[in-house]
Amino acid sequence: MDARALKIEAARAALAHVEDGMRLGIGTGSTAEEFVRLLAARMREGLSIIGVPTSERTAAFCRELGVPLTTLEETPELDLTVDGADEFDPELSLVKGGGGALLREKIVAAASRRMIVIADESKAVQTLGRFPLPIEVNPFGLKATELAVRRAAEALGLAGPVTLRMTKDAPFVTDGGHFILDASFGRIPDPRALSSSLHSVPGVVEHGLFLGLAQMAVVAGAGGARTILA
Ligand code: A5P
Repeated sequence: MDARALKIEAARAALAHVEDGMRLGIGTGSTAEEFVRLLAARMREGLSIIGVPTSERTAAFCRELGVPLTTLEETPELDLTVDGADEFDPELSLVKGGGGALLREKIVAAASRRMIVIADESKAVQTLGRFPLPIEVNPFGLKATELAVRRAAEALGLAGPVTLRMTKDAPFVTDGGHFILDASFGRIPDPRALSSSLHSVPGVVEHGLFLGLAQMAVVAGAGGARTILA
């Protein structure tokens, strides 16, 4: 199976958990987009849901395919969020934000009773940290925040390049108007400690460690889709 077929396989398995009338958080990224395609097809057959998108990109894609949308202002409690991940460990701790949508993704996941991660086997790791950790920061005081992030990591024995995400020659700007630092700290043996250290840096808006948010992952590999429970 090619990479796209695996994403479709995972998305299809997650769709089986979507029930009529659900309030659904809808993730961002190429795997989440496969989910939206399948969801839209099911809706044409009669399924009724209302979705909260985790990014402007996902919102536009949902509109294009006719998936009805609401906001967390109108619908602050969701039944289920389905989203991709950049990596996940056996406890279903995640790194997210490769697509730059981590802040809205985390807000939406936290507003949901359940979160299902959809991924292919390439995203599975024993210990988080193979994928550079995206950290969303306020543009104000960028250099000072970057330094504070490095120091917070160093206090936990973590070090490595921290780079400002760029698009061509300008910084990448998130839907919330923030920048992203990609931190290549390597293996993260204690994600909770890193999470709280990063949250203690004032310029850090949010980071891509999703801890205790996902209850299930559907992971597609050559032999089909398997389910992992947290
Ligand atoms: C978006 O910000 C990310 O968190 C995505 O969920 C993640 O990058 C997975 O994307 P793909 O499904 O495209 O790999």
